[in-house]
Amino acid sequence: MCGIVGYTGLDAVEPILLQGLEKLEYRGYDSAGVGLLRGNSIEVTRASGKLSNLASKFENENSEPGTGIGHTRWATHGAPTSENAHPHQDPSGRVAIVHNGIVENWKELRAKFATGEFSSDTDSEVLAHMIAALLAQGESLVSAVRRTLNEAAGAFSLVILDSSQPDVLIAARKGNAGGLVVGLADDGTYVASDMSALLTYTRKFFFLEPGEIATLKPSSVTIYSEEGREVTRQPYQATHDLTEVGKGQYPHYMMKEIYEQSDVLVSSLQGRYNGLSNTIDLSTEFEGSAISKDRIQGITRCLLVGMGTSMHACMVGRHYLERFGGIPTEVDNAAEFRYRRPLLDSNTLVISVTQSGETVDTLAAMDEAKRADCLQITICNTPGAQSTRLADLSLLLGAGAEISVASTKTLLASIMALHAVSLFLGKARETLTSEIEAEQVVNALQLPSAVSTVLGNSEKLFEVARKYAASEHFLFLGRGLGYPVALEGALKLKEVSYIHAEGYSAGEMKHGPIALVNDAMPTVAVCTRGDVHEKMLSNVEQIKARGGRVISLVTDGDDSFDKLADDCITLPDVDPALGPIPSIVALQLLAYGIARERGLDIDQPRNLAKTVTVE
Ligand code: F6R
Repeated sequence: MCGIVGYTGLDAVEPILLQGLEKLEYRGYDSAGVGLLRGNSIEVTRASGKLSNLASKFENENSEPGTGIGHTRWATHGAPTSENAHPHQDPSGRVAIVHNGIVENWKELRAKFATGEFSSDTDSEVLAHMIAALLAQGESLVSAVRRTLNEAAGAFSLVILDSSQPDVLIAARKGNAGGLVVGLADDGTYVASDMSALLTYTRKFFFLEPGEIATLKPSSVTIYSEEGREVTRQPYQATHDLTEVGKGQYPHYMMKEIYEQSDVLVSSLQGRYNGLSNTIDLSTEFEGSAISKDRIQGITRCLLVGMGTSMHACMVGRHYLERFGGIPTEVDNAAEFRYRRPLLDSNTLVISVTQSGETVDTLAAMDEAKRADCLQITICNTPGAQSTRLADLSLLLGAGAEISVASTKTLLASIMALHAVSLFLGKARETLTSEIEAEQVVNALQLPSAVSTVLGNSEKLFEVARKYAASEHFLFLGRGLGYPVALEGALKLKEVSYIHAEGYSAGEMKHGPIALVNDAMPTVAVCTRGDVHEKMLSNVEQIKARGGRVISLVTDGDDSFDKLADDCITLPDVDPALGPIPSIVALQLLAYGIARERGLDIDQPRNLAKTVTVE
């Protein structure tokens, strides 16, 4: 979603802004703009569409040192036009702002604070009017921003330029809708939505917390708390590198990331699964955290929260937490969780799963859990992200940057982190036998080669993709651990191919969805080895009896679907508890293959954003 970059200092500002925005492109956007302080006025340049449209407007410009802000916009209020792109200014041109998030009461604020005509349809523009109006009344810039944060309802991040203070940038946050990180370097001071935009320039960062306002000058930063007190904080020293990710030999990032999954599994297992002693060990990760052995013994229930693909990881993880961790576990869609007044206490373990660590709904659920003093673990792929700062313990995925908007490799890594944490908790609570621990470790260690086998069979999946690519509707069915796999298969397909796809528990099929079945709506059925294999067999029979076409995912050696299904995709025989891993990879390839047949923008599907920072 929206990306923010700002700089004040001795280096040429416009390349810093454009390069920073380029690093934030992965978040998803549909227009972009920059605002540069030139003398005592602010020059705003904006363009709809790709960043290259904006960059081309600077081709013959001389870059100068100074102060500026940049923005990539993911449209919420108003179409993705250049008029609606940020920065927005007040009519006098004194103030310019870039904004990420939503101002819920923008209509009321427009009526109260308008300083002239509005030139966009956005909720954001009114913030520039408000700040300019308060400055005109004699308020200082910081207090004008503070009042603006207080009056504006919603959650957002904001960076502001005031043309009468050419060496100053103000950055502010309200609630959890996209972070802001301030970077310090010898040449100047930076601000951005996340560290990836700034790692080229510095490794020394301050994260702004909700309610905080920072004043950035070329050689200093002052942070004020929500109450207006100056905050002293140790800088965060980033140790990870910005991996320059390219597509390599692959036509799309999605394909590259699918193909990386065997290696991702190896890194997920390394250091946690010991193949010599056949034991699991996360003690170094737990050591020194609030989740001590005593607290682990006292856990009475576990709640798994996440959104989209990460929620599907939670649904798989629930099986592991109950079966291996011995803990009653529920899964919640984080966006629903926060609004249903959940009953929580300090013996509840909340595990959030979030690739970005910045998903607004997941962060809001974590805030809710924090208020109830729950123990919190976050499973996240982004070092330093907001979720890692909220949780008592972070289990980092180490899956490397995921550029394709559709999540693939981080799902596999999240599932393995949940598997590892469940085994570890079961062991610490003495509910897991060493035999089951050893069996799970041995079986998990076979997964990288199982995934390689699925990848090696991708031509078969692409053949099936070609056969069904013209279908406009798909049904995905699974039971038990196959149910979240079916949901994920449907999600992946609709995201990248724009095909209508429904994921259901196969047991639910007869309660409604079967009415949809005909030969124009193929069904993908997850029928791999496990407790529900016979049930899936009869569900597939029922679909065939109604003229439906079926693509079955089956375990190598199982011929029971040969005569029944229209197409069988054979997967390596793994422990049924780990069955989602190869099945998910197969469904990723199927979705990718179909989108490729349809010639779509696979890595940046329409309307989608990688980091979802608005509700
Ligand atoms: C689907 C997808 C989304 C994300 C969801 C949560 O391919 O990428 O459904 O899984 O937006 O994002 P994170 O994991 O960053 O919290």
